[in-house]
Amino acid sequence: MKLTIIGTGYVGLVTGTCFAEVGHKVVCVDNNEKKVQMLRAGGIPIYEPGLEEMVKKNVAAGRLSFTSSTKEGVEKSDVIFIAVPTPPQPDGSVDLSFIETVARDIASAMTSYKIIVDKSTVPVKTGDKVAETIKRYCKAKVEFDVISNPEFLREGFAVEDLMKPDRVVIGVRSQRPVQAMKDVYTPFNAPIIVTDINSAELIKHAANSFLALKISYINAVANICEASGANVEEVATGMGMDIRIGRRFLHAGLAFGASCFPKDLSAFIKISETLGYDFALLKEVVQINADQMDRFLGKIRDTLWVLKDKKIGVLGLAFKQNTDDVRMSPAIELCQRLIKEGASLRVYDPKAMEKAKEVLKNATYVDDMNAIADGCDAVVIATEWPEFKKLDLDRARKALTHPIMFDGRNLFDPREMEAMGWIYKSVGR
Ligand code: UGA
Repeated sequence: MKLTIIGTGYVGLVTGTCFAEVGHKVVCVDNNEKKVQMLRAGGIPIYEPGLEEMVKKNVAAGRLSFTSSTKEGVEKSDVIFIAVPTPPQPDGSVDLSFIETVARDIASAMTSYKIIVDKSTVPVKTGDKVAETIKRYCKAKVEFDVISNPEFLREGFAVEDLMKPDRVVIGVRSQRPVQAMKDVYTPFNAPIIVTDINSAELIKHAANSFLALKISYINAVANICEASGANVEEVATGMGMDIRIGRRFLHAGLAFGASCFPKDLSAFIKISETLGYDFALLKEVVQINADQMDRFLGKIRDTLWVLKDKKIGVLGLAFKQNTDDVRMSPAIELCQRLIKEGASLRVYDPKAMEKAKEVLKNATYVDDMNAIADGCDAVVIATEWPEFKKLDLDRARKALTHPIMFDGRNLFDPREMEAMGWIYKSVGR
């Protein structure tokens, strides 16, 4: 099929590339001319495992191309996906101005029937507004359908999630576009759920808020484990073996971050408020997450006492493993708060150092993970990169004034660490 994706961020670029990979002919549109030039030249603006090779392969095969012209994108395809940012506003509501602009641009370029698919995460009822906007600005008076098709990919696993989705949600107002959407997704061999548009939009916010709730729940349980001497990993394993609960997203740690959960929680709370419902449960999820960071900082203060002039080595800057994304990263927030209290930091991340340098300027960036502890008073683990488990603990122990580690991601075994002479503080154990 001929498909156009407007917006080449995480969602747009990976979606477009995976659509091309299964044989569709895809045009990716972005209004950032520099980004388009970079992509045409084979450069990839984000780190995502497997993406670079897949982009190159599909560009070479003539199935994937890039342009800055929405008009060209609209002319070349019958199905147009919107994958532009929907950033949060100061009051927690969603800024839908990029969606509106794209809807207007699509409308003015339309000369025949088009299916316009919203992939960006949006508040319920946005599809109605997109349809109204297109109707208002379309001079050609042609027919069209607006569809909601939320994306559930995780950064760091985006290609994998896109190629093997556990479900595809399609929210429609009429049956006319359903077959075309099934044709788009049939090559992915995933169950396709067809709903009304409002339900599809709600599925995304409800799913992300539930996952965030699951993390806050286990973080709250971790606090009880700390107070009682239990081990949260063992509790989570025991809980997770109940298939109604499941073990995934039950990893206690240094709060959740990223550009999705915090934003989607605030948006869902705000939409609920607008619709007359006080979603107090989700407000508590947000509060537990904020407290989690405070508690972790408290552990560092309790052990190191005055943080002013302390030297701390921090492993991890990305908001999680497998990504170079530092937006809303708990690791960056932790670093900023440590620096604010007068500590000086040595920092390392396998992929996120370049992006981190733009937001975390007053730290020393080290190229070798094993040199992180040199001359420091303590080491902190802030991101769950699996390679941190291979840290040369002997070297780190000797490099530190005292062997102190604060593990915000529970990567090591507390008993083994203590047996090796470490003062080791983790989460919920
Ligand atoms: C999340 C959802 O998982 C995706 O399904 C969704 O499509 C995406 O948001 C989105 O809306 O675009 P993502 O933000 O990429 O994906 O990352 P996650 O893997 O969900 O991790 C989010 C945060 O939760 C990270 O800071 C991570 O460290 C933390 N986390 C995750 C925990 O603290 N504990 C866990 O058990 C799992």
